[in-house]
Amino acid sequence: MAEVNLKKIVAEKAVDEYVKDGMNVGLGTGSTAYYAILRIAEKVKEGYDLTCVATSVQSEELAKENGIKVVSLSDVDHLDVTIDGADEVDDDMQLIKGLGGALLREKIVAASSVREVIIVDSSKKVDILGVKTHLPVEVLRFGHEKTRIMLEKQGCKATLRMDGDTPFITDGGNYIYDCKFDAISSPFFLESRIDVIPGVVENGLFLNVATTVLIASGDGHVERIGE
Ligand code: A5P
Repeated sequence: MAEVNLKKIVAEKAVDEYVKDGMNVGLGTGSTAYYAILRIAEKVKEGYDLTCVATSVQSEELAKENGIKVVSLSDVDHLDVTIDGADEVDDDMQLIKGLGGALLREKIVAASSVREVIIVDSSKKVDILGVKTHLPVEVLRFGHEKTRIMLEKQGCKATLRMDGDTPFITDGGNYIYDCKFDAISSPFFLESRIDVIPGVVENGLFLNVATTVLIASGDGHVERIGE
């Protein structure tokens, strides 16, 4: 039997349900958002008039290669819906994002979106954020070693993300520290502590951002949290 592609299933369901002709649409980043972008391209070929904003250079290139009209966020008043992946999701639709390195643009785009539809497979579900993965934090390159010390004072081990032998550089030209906590039991408090550290540009906690989470599991069944 052919293997079930959960990322494709959940991505296509999200596009089919939430993307309508004439909308402004935010394009997520990552291996699940990839399938959403391809489905959006199919809708465009069917005749949908969509104006899209990408959350990364990678997604912008994929979209343009597939015939999708991509504009800058400044060119639209708002986005009707953004469809994006996540790295961890809890029962309250709180998220960790940014393992793909696009957290800064993803958060800016999400803030301009009426709906933020998150698409994941069931491996991303957690009871408490931070138990499976680390929290990515984007920081300015200037003085980043000092920023790391202040991040670690919040109770984590912070590791500079590398791309081979050199630090990974985000689309915004910054570095990322991957911060491993045992668990993030008070995410709002932690976010407030991280955001005041000089040098922090953005953190990967996406709290009260998602309006819908679609979760695909083993047999291809898709669970919905939210509207
Ligand atoms: C990109 O920076 C991330 O926030 C992605 O949305 C996240 O890593 C999910 O990616 P996958 O769908 O590839 O797991």
